[in-house]
Amino acid sequence: MTQISVSCSSAIDLHLGQTLVFNANPFDAGPDAVTHEYHGAIAVQAGRIHAVGTADDLRLRYPEAQIHDHGPGLLVPGFVDAHAHYPQTGIIASWGKRLIDWLNTYTFPEETRFADLTYARQIAGQYLDLLLDHGTTTVCSFCTIHPASVDALFEAAQERNMRIFAGKTCMDRNAPDGLRDSAQSAYDDSQRLLDRWHGTARGSYVITPRFSPTSTPEQLSALGALWAAHPECLMQTHLSEQTDEIAWVKSLFPQARDYLDTYEAHGLLGENGLYGHAIHLENREKDRLQELGAALVHCPTSNTFIGSGLFDMEGLTRSGLRVGLATDTGGGSSFSMLRAMAAAYEIGQLRGRPLHPSELLWLATQGSARALRADDQVGNLAPGLEADFQLLDLGATPAIAQRSARAGDIWEALFPTIMMGDDRCVKQTWVAGQPML
Ligand code: GUN
Ligand code: ZN
Repeated sequence: MTQISVSCSSAIDLHLGQTLVFNANPFDAGPDAVTHEYHGAIAVQAGRIHAVGTADDLRLRYPEAQIHDHGPGLLVPGFVDAHAHYPQTGIIASWGKRLIDWLNTYTFPEETRFADLTYARQIAGQYLDLLLDHGTTTVCSFCTIHPASVDALFEAAQERNMRIFAGKTCMDRNAPDGLRDSAQSAYDDSQRLLDRWHGTARGSYVITPRFSPTSTPEQLSALGALWAAHPECLMQTHLSEQTDEIAWVKSLFPQARDYLDTYEAHGLLGENGLYGHAIHLENREKDRLQELGAALVHCPTSNTFIGSGLFDMEGLTRSGLRVGLATDTGGGSSFSMLRAMAAAYEIGQLRGRPLHPSELLWLATQGSARALRADDQVGNLAPGLEADFQLLDLGATPAIAQRSARAGDIWEALFPTIMMGDDRCVKQTWVAGQPML
């Protein structure tokens, strides 16, 4: 492969292993969009990727570099989880409920505890360490209504130097005592947190109305006004996840044309909007999302676990929408983006469209980074990007090893890890060039 690099002058770490590099989007260009080197290399300097190429070429080019030889291990970008709820770490895998009952029974009582900064700090640190164990180096997370929950997550991310997207979840109705703010306090607290955290270290503040049922029109409008004042920020929320939820939205907003309209009518639809789930969309909603260039986030382990439905990956990507992939912890049943990729594959099969391993890997890395408008920072092994990457063992368990041993090419070698893998497959994670495990 041709060498490409950026110039700089401090010490270079040279990581040797198999490498997968995206040159284009495999949904458009097929698996040829990805370059595989069996004896590949990544040169890292001052926290960024300086060059990618073959091991032979980069060894010659950087004779003074510190060599880290990972043998046949596969070096890929750190996963980017585009939608999660870190406060739900402690209630992941809670049995037997569908969305609204699940929120009321498990989620809201747990989120109430995040008024306590000490507890929020404990879970934030535990959560980010779990992510790193699972190869995830960037997350876009909801917090709770409590500003302390936001401070705790940004602080924990700063301690680990992780790129992070997060915001205070806003709710002023249909939530229990202790878990409601108001239109005014949601605006004021969000503004304060945005001023405090947006653009600091590797942090980005995300304006975060939970979903239409838990915000009054006044609160949605207040957050729409905040977004209008800070259009550079992302805005994240939920859209059309379950049919009961959609019926509830219709009863709460009788004038709205559809679910998406409850956001649009309040200034919460735009090109920097991230809409989680987006399963049961009407044609008008799809057209409008596409027209405005908004991003959708597919949360497949959540959609099967809570019983929500089957995301239309083929139709939505074909129409040009940006789509990211996510765990939706703790509606999702795993912290692992490998599990999310496996579930995306299975949902694709149920819809008659098997996603290729190159597409699954792209969704979990560059696709999510693109949804977060961070693909010029993370999500690929390319010169100039931040050196957030991971080492996968493609034979981490006996079951995976016996299958990958028969593989004829890299995609056949990677697919068993996607389908049967989890944190056991992640041998090391680097954040801005520093090993984290
Ligand atoms: N809709 C509103 N809040 C949530 C949440 O916390 N998880 C999921 N999966 N859907 C939601
Ligand atoms: Zn969610």
